[in-house]
Amino acid sequence: MSRIAYVNGQYVPHAEAQIHVEDRGYQFADGVYEVAAIFRGRIIDEDGHLVRLKRSLDELDMAMPMPDRPFAAVCRETLRRNRVQDGIIYIQVSRGVSRRDHPFPEDVKPALVMTARAVDWPANADDDTGAEVVSIADIRWLRRDVKSISLLPNVLAKQEAREKGAYEAWLIDADGMVTEGSSTNAWIVDDDGKVVTRQLDHNILGGITRSTVIKLARENGIEVVERPFSLAEALASPEAFLSSTTSFVRGIIGIDGSVIGDGAPGPVTRRLRGLYLDYCRGAGVNE
Ligand code: PDD
Repeated sequence: MSRIAYVNGQYVPHAEAQIHVEDRGYQFADGVYEVAAIFRGRIIDEDGHLVRLKRSLDELDMAMPMPDRPFAAVCRETLRRNRVQDGIIYIQVSRGVSRRDHPFPEDVKPALVMTARAVDWPANADDDTGAEVVSIADIRWLRRDVKSISLLPNVLAKQEAREKGAYEAWLIDADGMVTEGSSTNAWIVDDDGKVVTRQLDHNILGGITRSTVIKLARENGIEVVERPFSLAEALASPEAFLSSTTSFVRGIIGIDGSVIGDGAPGPVTRRLRGLYLDYCRGAGVNE
């Protein structure tokens, strides 16, 4: 089945989907994006993704490309045309097309692109093997809370991780603290079984999975502490894991070649992974 992309008001064959060479997203990375998971036809945490998209746009003084209802309709139509029941939707908004010049152009409409593709979550969800991570200096800009399409440091970090045989890179700030992964949030479990993840501020992206996992943990009697933790603390922790839309909750079994816990995803991690996957298989709506 051929894929379809939504590009600035039109549904076009994916292979022919194009944007203008002077789209500011292409030239300046002047844009933002969202990735949401689809489970059994439902967009997981749709409201959370919409709120974050609007926040990212707002922080960059950009407008939503259209009101909420038609926007939601385009999401659904993109999923329908691609027959995605389980998969992901990618949404990108750039400041628009204009002659290349750094200041914001006047009277330019934001450009909206959406793509969707099927992912076999049931198979993926059964894969409970843990991941290896490697630590890499965090060289990103200082507004990581904005989900900007400017991802070069993230791309370089992920590539370095993959070249070292790891799944993810954990990014380390100047104080030796873990900020987050190149495309995931970072977590550890302390000796008391409390779950620790860095607090929300400009240093990390506020993951939608992160906030749902915090909510599910608290509802299920697992204490969550939002504070920075160092690489040294992570190395000495009984458990570590990562979270994101496409990785869900995934155990970490090694950091920089050192074994974490007993080298398999730990009990708190497995419990949270189960809770999160149940949530996705069920409502997937974060009230
Ligand atoms: N990445 N931190 C960073 C830097 C990210 O890029 C992401 C998401 C996350 C997790 O956020 P969420 O739980 O909302 O997916 C944390 C997406 C999936 C991506 O770039 O593909």
